[in-house]
Amino acid sequence: MKLGLGTGSTAAWMVRCLAERVKAEGLKVTCVPTSKRTSELARELGLNVVAMDDVKWLDLTIDGADEFDPNLNLIKGGGAALLQEKIVATASDRMIVIADAAKEVAQLGAFPLPVEVIPFGWQTTKALIEETLYSLDVLNREVHQRMNRARPLKTDEGNFILDLHLKRIGNPRQLALVLNQIPGVVENGLFIDICDVVVIGNGDGRVTVRDINSGRIEDAAVDMTQSDNIFADLND
Ligand code: A5P
Repeated sequence: MKLGLGTGSTAAWMVRCLAERVKAEGLKVTCVPTSKRTSELARELGLNVVAMDDVKWLDLTIDGADEFDPNLNLIKGGGAALLQEKIVATASDRMIVIADAAKEVAQLGAFPLPVEVIPFGWQTTKALIEETLYSLDVLNREVHQRMNRARPLKTDEGNFILDLHLKRIGNPRQLALVLNQIPGVVENGLFIDICDVVVIGNGDGRVTVRDINSGRIEDAAVDMTQSDNIFADLND
């Protein structure tokens, strides 16, 4: 199987579990990571890592998310890897998101929406985004450049991230399209119609699987010791 490996603290657990299963069961997987961080982790764990251009298309991508709504539309990019994540997930037959219950929202937007912009003229791009937001259905319109201590954060591609503090996004599909029309914007963190399944982990070991294509919702209780449950510290 050709597998896209997501980025972030949740996806990192998946990469570790995958490496264990590859060792124990001899699974044959070719992995495309979505960031330098995930690439380093996957290589350290002995997974077979290749570049996106070596495979071009994938069977499945498994990633985390910052928010997901009832249509399984997502906000991603809290870890600044949204560009590679979107390319990889879009080029996959299926995308599965693994997330804790706190990431589920009725409407996207409480989590600041990351937008990747090129450094050239980024302040002009920021001003254009701010102006554009006035014609869109959002509750708040603050835009902040993401920093890494005292310096602007740079993505794996050497770009900047602008975080859009919108509080509520009325029409995520429209916003995603409009943002990508602005010169200087490379990509935005709205993943619309990309995710197929969300696996939601709860603090008590309950797992809910939601499949947008079949409409199936499955609940399962996973038998695990408290120390095995990475979501055990959550107040559900
Ligand atoms: C990385 O850029 C993001 O899209 C992550 O997938 C997202 O922020 C979820 O990260 P955590 O699993 O660390 O919450």
